[in-house]
Parts: sequence; C-alpha cells; structure tokens
Amino acid sequence: MRYIKLKTVNSTNKYAKELAKQGAPEWTVVTADTQTDGYGRMGRRFLSPVGSGLYMSIILRPHLEPAKALYITAAAAVALTDAIKELTNTDTCIKWVNDIYLNDKKIAGILTESAFADDKRIEYTVLGIGVNIYTPEGGFPAEISDIASAIYSSPTSSELRDSLAQSVCLHFKNYYDRLEEKQFLDKYRALNIVPNSDITVISSNGSYRAHAVEINDDFKLIIKKEDGTVACLDSGEVSVRRTK
Ligand code: BTN
Repeated sequence: MRYIKLKTVNSTNKYAKELAKQGAPEWTVVTADTQTDGYGRMGRRFLSPVGSGLYMSIILRPHLEPAKALYITAAAAVALTDAIKELTNTDTCIKWVNDIYLNDKKIAGILTESAFADDKRIEYTVLGIGVNIYTPEGGFPAEISDIASAIYSSPTSSELRDSLAQSVCLHFKNYYDRLEEKQFLDKYRALNIVPNSDITVISSNGSYRAHAVEINDDFKLIIKKEDGTVACLDSGEVSVRRTK
C-alpha cells in the first residue's frame, strides 16, 4: 500500500480519481486531515472538519463484472465495522448499502465511484470512506444533528485516526483479495439493520414506501412494495421507518 497523506484537499475521492486517471496503481491510499468539498451519495455534503474524522480514498483496479460492483461497497462496510471494533471495542451496524450506524445514528459512510473502459470493463474504482471519529467542535450542524453521530464525543488519542485507516485497509484487503468468495456476506447480512423492516426508498424518481425482505447473494435488497410487487434494489437509498 502506498499512503499519500494530505493536510487539506477538496475531496480525497476527487484527488484519487485524478491520480487513477493518470495511471496510479491499485492500493494507492489518499487521506486528508480535512476536506473542503467532501461529498457522499446523491451529491450530499460530507462534513469533514480537521481533527474530527478519517477521510480516505483507496484506488482499486478490480477484475470484476460491473454487475458485481456492489461487492466492493459491502466488503468495505464489513471491514469498517471490523476495524472500529478492533480499535475502539465499539459494535456498529450497517444500513444497506453503505452506511455505518451506532445507536441509530450514522457515524460513517462509503462512496464507491468507478470509471469504465469502452469495452465496459471497470478501469478503476475509487473507494471513499469517511468516519466521524469525534464529534466536531461545537457539535454537528443542526440540520444533521438528529441523524449524525461519532464514535466518541471528544478526542481520545492522537494515533487512532491513522491506526483506523490502516486497520480498515488490512481488513478490506483480506476480503477484496478473494472478493468473489464473499467471505463477508454472512456478516454483512447479520449486521444489517434494513431487512425485516418497513422502509422508505428514496430514488432519483421520488420516494415510496416498502417492506425490506432480505439481502440477496449479490448484496441487493429485495423489497415488497405496497402494491405487493417484489423488486430488487442495487442502488438508491433507504430510510428505516421505526414503528412505535
Ligand atoms: C455517504 O455518506 O453517502 C458517503 C460518504 C463518503 C465520504 C467519504 S470521505 C472520503 C471520501 N471523499 C469524499 O469526498 N467522500 C468520501
């Protein structure tokens, strides 16, 4: 692994995509102390204050059918829960497809972006990982304070962030090297809070209610819509509706 450690950058994903376009090898890992334009799925901002989180992007060159791209996100989600447990002894959950939760609030997110060659092969994938290790000074902004949290409320160790980066990479590499064996499938299912719950599916065409049935062998979410039809989701976002 080759680590590139930046103080500040617009986004480690953007930076890593540029490096990948220029031919950077697999396992080039970009981290930054802060991001001025960190982003998540659906164009959302990913708050990235200095001293508060891990902001990391890994360049990959997977030999994988594009239909299996979800395997990478799932492997990274399990690797993140493994690393958080190893270093902080904290049990976290996964919210399909790419979020890590602690006590019903999001503490980490994963953004996997790929570029494709003319023959539809994956040319490169940038795996972006953002973890709120500590609550930012002054707290989370009001608009996300109901949904966002951190592993710790205040700083605990000056080495934790870098140790977490290394641990995530090692756990992830272990799964990635044998990705199609899906060693992480059972854990991904067991830690997932979405199956067997009523959800709202948020897609580019609007949102609708459904029941999440299960995660299939390709990490897709099987849902039953209110009209009784069954669908298989491979992207989009779901929010879990709590029944009181
Ligand atoms: C999400 O919550 O939808 C995914 C968030 C991913 C954030 C990480 S932080 C490092 C990398 N750089 C970015 O701009 N985004 C990812």
